[in-house]
Amino acid sequence: VIDVRKLYANTGMFTYDPGFTSTASCESGLTYIDGDEGVLLHRGYPIGQLAEQSSFMEVSYLLLNGELPSKQELADFTRTITRHTMVHEQLTTFYRGFRRDAHPMAIMCGVVGALSAFYHDSTDINDPAQRTIASHRLIAKMPTIAAMAYKYSVGQPFVYPRNDLSYTANFLRMTFSVPAEEYEPDPVIVDAMDKIFILHADHEQNASTSTVRLAGSSGANPFACIAAGIACLWGPAHGGANEAALNMLREIGTVDRIPEYIARAKNKDDPFRLMGFGHRVYKNYDPRATVMQKTAKDVLEKLGVNDPVFDVAKELEQIALNDPYFIEKKLYPNVDFYSGVILSAIGFPTEMFTVLFALARTVGWVAQWNEMISDPAQKIGRPRQLYTGPVQRDYVPVADR
Ligand code: ACO
Repeated sequence: VIDVRKLYANTGMFTYDPGFTSTASCESGLTYIDGDEGVLLHRGYPIGQLAEQSSFMEVSYLLLNGELPSKQELADFTRTITRHTMVHEQLTTFYRGFRRDAHPMAIMCGVVGALSAFYHDSTDINDPAQRTIASHRLIAKMPTIAAMAYKYSVGQPFVYPRNDLSYTANFLRMTFSVPAEEYEPDPVIVDAMDKIFILHADHEQNASTSTVRLAGSSGANPFACIAAGIACLWGPAHGGANEAALNMLREIGTVDRIPEYIARAKNKDDPFRLMGFGHRVYKNYDPRATVMQKTAKDVLEKLGVNDPVFDVAKELEQIALNDPYFIEKKLYPNVDFYSGVILSAIGFPTEMFTVLFALARTVGWVAQWNEMISDPAQKIGRPRQLYTGPVQRDYVPVADR
């Protein structure tokens, strides 16, 4: 047995903090969360106000630049992003290397990482102008790349961007148009999708953002860093939760089966958890879930969809919020609880949910990455560890073992 104190006697002081529950890895001026009060601010603005009154393009500008844009600045920024929506034609051949049934997140990891092989003029991280172009390229190309991942999975031809449409309408069209029928995005759906993008744009030092920062701290190029973020986001405890939440709601199916699942979530011998419930930071209602619930209602009404899954979700929320187990552990619905209901009603298959999250979070990732590179205190990320292996011993040649 190792005496850890003896082993680290000369190391100086450092903390052992699995999961980084109480260790800040950086300073950041982007996003503030008060998990106890259920507050989320981007550059000081409450998420509810941004979701209701702003647009994803404006929030992107805000996160990148620190202030809301003037009318002219917003128009210029939108034009710049629009100009970068095309991907290099050779990139389209990448998709054919994947099996048809590949998970679109697997495709995203590969294709986004490959961008660095196409845009050599925006990989020098020490040049602020190159960093800006890389950021714009990533934000602009993500909808195109995501829509292409979808098209590939359903065996339909790729749809190229149309620059007279808004960022979000363009994405919906690239996803749902087919040569025989042009998709006309409904303003209610565009608005709902734009809100979903705003709600996912940034969330301070979550696992994928920390991954982007850690990758970037070595000087890796921005496209590689964002690909690392996408890989991390894919996990079911992070970005994969909305897919898992909808699957769970579908499995529950009817309101009368809710108590059975609540009992399972409370049973310590059962690994089952209520997906879309609980959060590392929020110990109160996730403010994004409030907007999400209202948006779900608007979208279902607009589309005339009577999805029993929404009724199950609302009832499950009420039962859990009044259950002593969930009250005591401060488990509330998170952003993922209702988003799946909306995305499914719009027509996205569940495999695309995390892709949409990645699309929106790209803005936060690049803003955080830029902030880190510009920070004079920036160092390579290098966590310590507590060694628990054998103490020093002598090698024994294989013949003597
Ligand atoms: N259902 C039932 N019990 C839960 C749930 C849940 N969804 N979440 C947490 N708990 C319980 C745990 O069993 C634990 O109980 P214990 O103290 O008796 O052991 C306690 O609450 C604390 O849970 P931890 O896992 O220690 O909390 P942590 O902060 O590490 O986890 C997490 C947060 C991963 C989000 C967790 O709540 C979870 O797994 N939720 C379901 C998945 C999910 O919705 N993820 C989306 C997160 S939001 C996002 O990424 C955008």
